[in-house]
Amino acid sequence: MFLVANWKMNMTRSLIDGYLDVLAGRPMSGLLERKRLSVALAAPHIYLDYVNREVHRRKLPVQIVAQDVSTRTSGAFTGEVGVPNLLDIGIKGSLIGHSERRRFFRETDEDVVAKTGLCLNGGVVPIICFGESRPDRENGVTLETLRSQLEPVCEEIVRAREEGIYTPFYLAYEPVWAIGSGVNAGLSDIQEVVTFVCEAFPWPDPPNCLYGGSVGLENIRELASSEFLSGFLVGSSWLDPNGLLNSAELLPQTERTAQEGVRFK
Ligand code: PGA
Repeated sequence: MFLVANWKMNMTRSLIDGYLDVLAGRPMSGLLERKRLSVALAAPHIYLDYVNREVHRRKLPVQIVAQDVSTRTSGAFTGEVGVPNLLDIGIKGSLIGHSERRRFFRETDEDVVAKTGLCLNGGVVPIICFGESRPDRENGVTLETLRSQLEPVCEEIVRAREEGIYTPFYLAYEPVWAIGSGVNAGLSDIQEVVTFVCEAFPWPDPPNCLYGGSVGLENIRELASSEFLSGFLVGSSWLDPNGLLNSAELLPQTERTAQEGVRFK
């Protein structure tokens, strides 16, 4: 399974040092090997280089990914960070289309497609977030919303494959109403969505789907018992490194190896 801790707009260098010290203080490699887990930390842009260096220095078995990337490659786009910038500092993965980007920064489905394409072309693994809002669910239009988010993303991935680009990708189902709310989606809802997503579009390879939205120690084991999830994208409860490691301890041993093929570096 693939575990991604989304730090969002949190952390300072000293908090990062403390976080990595906790990871280094526990026998992490053995745990990840035993449970067949990969771990990534999604850090704010300004800390990506720092965390990446510190992780290497401490020989920690974790990967560092960005939380977003520009729809542009380079040029006069003040404040933006492009795929070439990520690659320049050794970052090989990025969240794309997180609901907070869609909601607070008006990111559109078209932006998500453009970012996905640039990541694939550049060899940066996109972790593409999607999910319905509470009104979508209440109005019974969840699957329509997911279709409009993911159909063009799938077309972009197919286009890349046709051009001989084989950058792996992840999908992350994050129902907006479950993020930071303390209420996670139920297993049957998640299964319905993941099954729909896998079957509704002509993915060139079977998608590895993560779940995010109020995952924590109290529910991760049950969620992980499902056959259809490849991992988790977690905010609040993995801002504490012990939350991340204790969650990993709770995960069942798995024989599933598909996700292990994805290595960012
Ligand atoms: P949460 O956030 O775990 O705090 O609900 C998940 C996310 O936004 O990626």
